[in-house]
Amino acid sequence: MIKIALDGPSGSGKSTVAKAISGRLGIVYVDTGALYRSVGYYVRTKGKDPKNASEVEALLSEIELDVRYENGVQCVYLNGENLGDKIRQPEISMYASAVSAIPAVRAFLLETQKSIARKNNVVMDGRDIGTVILPDADVKIFMTASNEARAMRRYKELTEKGVEVKYEDVLREMIERDENDRSRAVAPAIPAEDAIIFDNSDYDLEGSIEKVIEIIKEKVGDFS
Ligand code: DC
Repeated sequence: MIKIALDGPSGSGKSTVAKAISGRLGIVYVDTGALYRSVGYYVRTKGKDPKNASEVEALLSEIELDVRYENGVQCVYLNGENLGDKIRQPEISMYASAVSAIPAVRAFLLETQKSIARKNNVVMDGRDIGTVILPDADVKIFMTASNEARAMRRYKELTEKGVEVKYEDVLREMIERDENDRSRAVAPAIPAEDAIIFDNSDYDLEGSIEKVIEIIKEKVGDFS
């Protein structure tokens, strides 16, 4: 079994890199942010405050999440409904970040993540994969980039999808969300002590993928 932990802030390119690595190495890609987004989405549909721990906690027993792989793509089902792109809206990002600071939410999602990794070779992307979910991962990489580089990537991604946003708003919201994720008391989004830090501000996508593959090969050899 091989476990690769790919952590980092939003816009660091980790999900795109993780997907490419999953395809190249033939291992399962797990997008753990999608789970927090699904909880955030549910809290929003119920009109509750995502920062209110007791309100959010009370909703958890109503939530059943199921992660399935359909044609190689991860789908999250919430109470039987495939959420698809509904969890990708910018406002859901803030909901996800807010609920992710609540210890009961993290505990609620822990076993789902661990059990996928027990059954499969995985590359998992998230914030606490190297520190909490897979502390024994074979490879731990913390990907990051400057605020401006990350915000520009996120801005392009959203506008290409037809979402109307301003770069300044994307930058401001991203800095706010990262601060939330980094400063929370439980499982803060910081590198594991034994993680390799990769700042890819000056790398394009292909360059980032090649670099990460190189790091993986150095650690575990060429297993593809
Ligand atoms: O990776 P993402 O942008 O889809 O994640 C959305 C939010 O979920 C992020 O702001 C913080 C939270 N998250 C987390 O706390 N731990 C993870 N392993 C993944 C995401």
